[in-house]
Amino acid sequence: MSAASLSPLTQAGGVGGGQAPLANRRADFPGLVTADGAPWHYLDTGATAQKPQAVIDATVRAMGADYATVHRGVYGRSARMTLAFEDARRKVARFIGGHEDEVVFTRGATEAINLVAQTWGRTNLRPGDRVLLSLLEHHSNIVPWQLVAEQTGAIIDVCPLTADGRIDLDAAERILTPAHKLVSFAQVSNVLGSVLDTARAARLAHAVGALLLLDGCQAVPRLAVDVAALDCDFYAFSSHKLYGPTGIGVLWARAEILAAMPPWQGGGAMIDRVTFERTTYAPAPARFEAGTPAIVEAIGLGAAIDYVSALGMDALHAHEAALAATLREELRRLNSVTVFGPDDGVGVVSFALDGVHPHDLGTILDEENVAIRAGHHCAQPLMDHLGVPATARASFGLYNDESDIAALLRGIERTKRIFG
Ligand SMILES: Cc1ncc(COP(=O)(O)O)c(C=O)c1O
Repeated sequence: MSAASLSPLTQAGGVGGGQAPLANRRADFPGLVTADGAPWHYLDTGATAQKPQAVIDATVRAMGADYATVHRGVYGRSARMTLAFEDARRKVARFIGGHEDEVVFTRGATEAINLVAQTWGRTNLRPGDRVLLSLLEHHSNIVPWQLVAEQTGAIIDVCPLTADGRIDLDAAERILTPAHKLVSFAQVSNVLGSVLDTARAARLAHAVGALLLLDGCQAVPRLAVDVAALDCDFYAFSSHKLYGPTGIGVLWARAEILAAMPPWQGGGAMIDRVTFERTTYAPAPARFEAGTPAIVEAIGLGAAIDYVSALGMDALHAHEAALAATLREELRRLNSVTVFGPDDGVGVVSFALDGVHPHDLGTILDEENVAIRAGHHCAQPLMDHLGVPATARASFGLYNDESDIAALLRGIERTKRIFG
């Protein structure tokens, strides 16, 4: 297909589909240029988000002039660092509608889900108990449950998807029984962008006495999240997808559930009193945070939350949903592209170009300064279901605009010419 078959707006460097409501923030993100100063069309925010200067500055200050340990020092710098660290926890709590005592800092969403599996799961799951996952889950929300199923004798059930790529809650309703102790679903799919009907998922889980864990990795950077309104029992996400640093994430859990969970890692900071005869543990969240925490990273996460909160999560959501809708529409105009996932998915668009492996597409796009993800996206069961080894995935962040979509479409046209 020639460039002439692209929509006129695309050829002009912009794409139709409505004016995005968020002002252009590219200048806040120093990572969005190539080594030779050209614009970098970064469409891999689903993997990890670029960082705004405000987050970089906050981490540099925390690592430099303000640096000291937390919770232990008797000197002023450490006391101030402790306040800043705990302030970051309060910011997280406010941001997701929870209480600060319910916010456990982890290394990321993966560790947050493993924590639930290894503490709540090992304590509460018995042989024959069941855990319901879905076909679209990230490996981080599959493998921890397989490990705990081996340890406890619990059984994993897999909820199918609707034809357009949502978790099929009609099927979930049929599958769920009182043997189910936990339902663990992604709020937003990292491959399809599909958004879970969380209210119904919570109703269905609670109706059989199961708890609901939401993997909020792809949701928290894209939707306003209120764990109380979601009526979930656990919520997990990673800072680095929310424009914050790597190495820190969050497990939120209902206070009474957290209070009943045993620790999973032992060490400093998680104890009340240690003797060789008997050790008692600190209350949550400290009980789950053994060792010196990720101090700088927590402060960086707090700065990221300040940054996105100032822009407004509703504006971010509208912006990314509009870009994703525009990209889907433009991809469908190229009749050699298969687009996966529902039409109203947010921020993430997976597709396949006929006769071209996604890795080849990704490599050619890289030459055009366009970065997409090509692969199985840590969702191999979903790839098997789609009948492909891999997909190409463009995922948006708050800094993307129509010029990124236009660059992607130009790169796809070039790839098609190369592959004849
Ligand atoms: C839906 C989903 N869940 C879990 C994860 C794991 O996140 P992390 O690797 O930051 O722990 C990811 C990351 O891609 C994800 O997209």
